[in-house]
Amino acid sequence: MTDPKKSNNTAKPKRSFLARFSAFTDKFAYPLRTSHYVELLNPLWAGHALRAKVVKVWDETKDSRTLTLKPGFNWRGYRAGQHVRIGVPLNGVQYTRTYTISSPPERNDGLFTITVKAIADGRISHHLVRDVKVGSFLAIGLPQGDFYLPDSRPVKPLFITAGSGITPAMSMLESMLAKDRMRDTVHIHYAPHEFDAIFNKRLKQIEIEQPAYNLNQVFTHEYGEHKQTKGYFHAEQLERLCPDWRERETYACGPQPLIEAMEKHFTQEGMLRHLHIERFSAQLAEIPKEAVGGTVSFLKSGIDAIADASTALLRVAEDAGMNPPHGCRMGICHSCSTTLLSGCVRDLRTGKLINDIGSKIQTCVCAAAGNCELDL
Ligand code: FES
Repeated sequence: MTDPKKSNNTAKPKRSFLARFSAFTDKFAYPLRTSHYVELLNPLWAGHALRAKVVKVWDETKDSRTLTLKPGFNWRGYRAGQHVRIGVPLNGVQYTRTYTISSPPERNDGLFTITVKAIADGRISHHLVRDVKVGSFLAIGLPQGDFYLPDSRPVKPLFITAGSGITPAMSMLESMLAKDRMRDTVHIHYAPHEFDAIFNKRLKQIEIEQPAYNLNQVFTHEYGEHKQTKGYFHAEQLERLCPDWRERETYACGPQPLIEAMEKHFTQEGMLRHLHIERFSAQLAEIPKEAVGGTVSFLKSGIDAIADASTALLRVAEDAGMNPPHGCRMGICHSCSTTLLSGCVRDLRTGKLINDIGSKIQTCVCAAAGNCELDL
């Protein structure tokens, strides 16, 4: 019989020696914590913030680069296909972006990689691709996301990827290889030219070595003026490159037009529940032509900025030199939420206007709809 004293579920969990020691030394470190001083010795040892050291950079193409990162103590394992938030300091401001981990979790050196493509108008991606040096430290979050192959049942994956959207597929492929369990896989990958194709060499090597892996690369610019109709995703192309796509689970990652075209086709064919999508930006509604922006007043900061009707307020604040809190930048995490103090904003995902004073708005997916005041 169980001793009721021993089975007391409300008993406090035991803390590790390190946690108890830190709690003791924190008394002497006030108003900071011991961890803040430890961070000065080695940022990877900090307990209050998770960081990673850049240990290698590798150019994949002329505008994309793989960064190999050594995470701090608080890092935990991840699943192939998950993503991570990266904090990038630039000109005294800390920006956050989300990148898929491109390495497999089976790596046994404790390191992981992200592969970044410098996008037009993307100052953070340009900084990561061009300027970040080996030895620098980046703030990181914990791995997140449910874009991965299920363990519970064997599936035949169809990967449809474009550009840097290849990164989760690469992690999954390498993971299958590491476990020596390559499934019957078809991969359709889009890139403008062969020289733009990230991991091109590695994918070809896998295709040669693994009979179960069927690679189809589509170099869209080879179709010249017909690239929109013949090079990009369309029904006939899918049937040709993967005739048994209806028997597969499809994992798609790429630019919004590709994702929209796929969603439309899979919906028409009644196959939407077999389509798994990884998005890196919110799905936006069409903004009415007559929509106008206005002056946005960030009252706590004492800053006014002129904004148009389609630029997210988070971006407006950053362009005005502010560093507002944010995380995912796509309307999921709510870290960017603030209070609307007056005026009106538009939720860019739904197109709906929000003018309830005192309501919480997400600055990463709302734009000015006339003059407004925010509690930032
Ligand atoms: S930054 Fe995540 S919801 Fe706005």
